Amino acid sequence: MESKIKLLGIAGSLRRTSFNHAALRAAQELVPADAELTIHDIAALPFYNQDLEAAGPPVAVLELRQSIHAADALLIATPEYNHSIPGVLKNAIDWASRPIAASALNGKPAALLGASVGIYGTVRAQLHLRQILTASNTYVMLKPELLITRASEKFDSDGQLTDETTREQLQTLLAALVAWTRRLQPH
Ligand code: FNR
Repeated sequence: MESKIKLLGIAGSLRRTSFNHAALRAAQELVPADAELTIHDIAALPFYNQDLEAAGPPVAVLELRQSIHAADALLIATPEYNHSIPGVLKNAIDWASRPIAASALNGKPAALLGASVGIYGTVRAQLHLRQILTASNTYVMLKPELLITRASEKFDSDGQLTDETTREQLQTLLAALVAWTRRLQPH
């Protein structure tokens, strides 16, 4: 039997009741049987500072890099802030991309999703995130895409993803990510 694909979920929001965190929790329920999803919280990361890097990166940075190295693929859930990704997510990517010769992101399969309360469902943020991840040679899956529009109507007050269509789309995305990851794994 093939070994389980280890997915690592990262949400680009520090908000306690974040829809993007909630989407990752829903993904944990919907992940295929041949995969598992753990979530890595980026709240403890300091702002990127090359002096900190030179002095020996903080524990939170080492833990992030270790989690990404140990994962077979990433599932990144991004909000949209001012037509781009939140600074906290860019900061996490910047830390994870260093040192460049041993970057945890280099060659790592990934899928994106995003939830926003508006009608565009993070489309601009996701396009920007794709562009950013080209720098670290992260292998972002092209299709399917998952744009969760009007998030406040799709999750209940406990953060449960209740919208059946979105649950199906998320399940399809996860199955595609697992297939994408297996396709990219060395034989
Ligand atoms: C937003 N929001 C937002 N939404 C959007 O569709 N396009 C945008 O450009 C922005 N810009 C933006 C900037 C800032 C500073 C904030 C705080 C919010 C709304 C955003 O999508 C909404 O707050 C989401 O709920 C944030 O995601 P989490 O925290 O629920 O995961």
